[in-house]
Amino acid sequence: MKFTDRPRRLRTDGIRPLVSETTLDATDLVAPVFVDATTDERVPIESIPGHERVPVAEAADRVAEVREAGVKAVIVFGIPESKDPEGSRAYARNGVVQEAVRAITAETDAYVITDVCLCEYTDHGHCGVLEDHAEDDPTLTVENGPTLDLLAETAVSHAEAGADMVAPSASMDGMVGAIRTALDDAGHDEIPIMSYAAKYESAFYGPFRDAADGAPAFGDRRHYQMDPANAREALREVALDVEQGADVLMVKPGLPYLDIVRAIREGYDHPVAAYNVSGEYAMLHAAAEKGWLDLDGVAHESLLSMKRAGADLIITYFAERVARQLD
Ligand code: PBG
Ligand code: ZN
Repeated sequence: MKFTDRPRRLRTDGIRPLVSETTLDATDLVAPVFVDATTDERVPIESIPGHERVPVAEAADRVAEVREAGVKAVIVFGIPESKDPEGSRAYARNGVVQEAVRAITAETDAYVITDVCLCEYTDHGHCGVLEDHAEDDPTLTVENGPTLDLLAETAVSHAEAGADMVAPSASMDGMVGAIRTALDDAGHDEIPIMSYAAKYESAFYGPFRDAADGAPAFGDRRHYQMDPANAREALREVALDVEQGADVLMVKPGLPYLDIVRAIREGYDHPVAAYNVSGEYAMLHAAAEKGWLDLDGVAHESLLSMKRAGADLIITYFAERVARQLD
């Protein structure tokens, strides 16, 4: 038996680390944090095991825990005290995210990203203001133009509270440009925008919608989030966001859309983010609970795959767990 090409030569314990093409670092990870204005105690999120909704008073403590695990950045989501058709608590100066960001930036050195959307704040659960009669007409949903103003106002209120970066997730056309202009006009030209640029209408968001109380009361989001069948369309979305000034380009979900991560990596020089969403996390947890998968193994492999596909940063509910494992 004679081989000239024997890839196994490079797989001994000594050389594997020397030739590994991809590394996963705790500094690549962003941990989601849920802050809830309706509670004064921490409430475990059943569908996202190991995560909790925390009251504003404990937001900074929660972030300090994340930092202790070695994760330096968080993305903050809010559950407001009340909801209305316009999602007005999303842009209230004393809203739950605004207050939480003030506390987190005062008490920790975390890099604080905020999710900019209206779905957790509207009583109908859609990501913007509704068109007239949207409740009874399945061809109607969110009105793009007026929603842009509210998203821009929300982003500015987050920047005023001290957010380091804003991450619009509403999937409205022109959203990045509207936010960029509003931030600049308000004197926040230093704040980058991480756009949920390729955001799919995915069934993998189920556990998050329970966690954040953000499920639409009627209909679904297919009129504004992308069709999972489409890849070329993602590149169009990304091109538009880049034109409008996006600084970081996100793909969401992560694992089922690694082809999109790779395509953006190859087509653009911007940093690419992958969102390893709640359903990706929940399914691995559920299988591990049954003893069918090794959780640490599949968590690490999932995140490494996103890096290999081309992601620079990863938003993941595994952030603390994997960071501890890497340590
Ligand atoms: C808000 C938002 C959602 C997620 C992040 N931001 C929900 C949605 O779009 O339905 C999902 C995150 C996850 O599932 O982990 N627009
Ligand atoms: Zn939304």
